[in-house]
Amino acid sequence: MSRREPLVDGHGRAIGDVRISVTDRCNLRCQYCMPADGLPWLERDEVLSFEEIERLVALLASMGVADVRLTGGEPLVRRDFPRLAGMLASVDGVRELAVTTNGFLLERDAAALVAAGVDRFNVSIDSLQRDRFYELTRRDALDRVLAGLEELARHPEAHPIKVNAVAIRGFTEHELPAFVEFARQNPYEVRFIEFMPLDADHAWEPQAVLTGEEIRAAIEEIAPLEPLPREPSSTARVWRFADGSGSIGLVSPVSEPFCADCNRIRITAEGRLRTCLFSLGETDLRGPMRSGAGDDELEELVRAAVWRKELKHHVGEPGFIQPDRTMSAIGG
Ligand code: 5AD
Ligand code: SF4
Repeated sequence: MSRREPLVDGHGRAIGDVRISVTDRCNLRCQYCMPADGLPWLERDEVLSFEEIERLVALLASMGVADVRLTGGEPLVRRDFPRLAGMLASVDGVRELAVTTNGFLLERDAAALVAAGVDRFNVSIDSLQRDRFYELTRRDALDRVLAGLEELARHPEAHPIKVNAVAIRGFTEHELPAFVEFARQNPYEVRFIEFMPLDADHAWEPQAVLTGEEIRAAIEEIAPLEPLPREPSSTARVWRFADGSGSIGLVSPVSEPFCADCNRIRITAEGRLRTCLFSLGETDLRGPMRSGAGDDELEELVRAAVWRKELKHHVGEPGFIQPDRTMSAIGG
């Protein structure tokens, strides 16, 4: 592999993590993400091919972007997804290959993904009660998702497994006792992610965010917690149950932004580079790739875009503009 200079932004942050959306499609319709009727999907040839994704991953890895996370939409709805995972796992310079999934197809794919070399899984589950899961995701799929999670947990290589719940005021409070029980009984780190203004319905408002601190205080009433040291560039603050029975993570991008040591960039399903979840602009990489750009030329495009990476987001501040794209089109 030809080693290239590290990828750094104009604020001195080295980029070490890329999240790639492999499809904009999804089999759920979470209220905080998609509209009930879905979105106009991309045409097949608008989406990056496996070879194009592999090429971008190899280029980024040669600049030190060693951690790769595959997202969607729902990545497992992309045909032949485990084959893509296998291609990326063997790219020189890739240290960790992770997948964020809603779990709906995990029963089918967990074994193939682990065999392909996926090291880390995040499974999104917002409620452990069937009717409330249905209300939030607009699909009656909790049993199926839990079966998928169990299937995944049978593979020792997949651990530690993270379970992500979006924290929404008026909803998530009622889930906490069940999630505490779940986190104590199972080898999963349950992580609560503050609701961010990336929903298609534009229903987000500051009051709709149930903050990490509120969740911590509420959980503390059920079972005492102890903080674990924060790892550099990690989004979660992790707390361990004081009796040693498991841990929970709090991801608080709204109440306690972690932009200062953000080391992440994103690539959308149609091959546009985004330097922040809340970016209003993007850099097309698919067009240049399809019109014959060489790796040096692509490297220059990536470097120029990353150099202008936003210092921080402005969620909750006056004048904040919500991006047109929803989480499903960006890739969590
Ligand atoms: N705010 C916070 N998290 C969100 N996700 C999707 N939309 C939002 C939002 N508006 C989460 C999903 C998944 C991850 C990819 O992002 O639940 O866990
Ligand atoms: Fe699908 Fe994830 Fe969006 Fe839910 S949050 S609709 S699972 S992409």
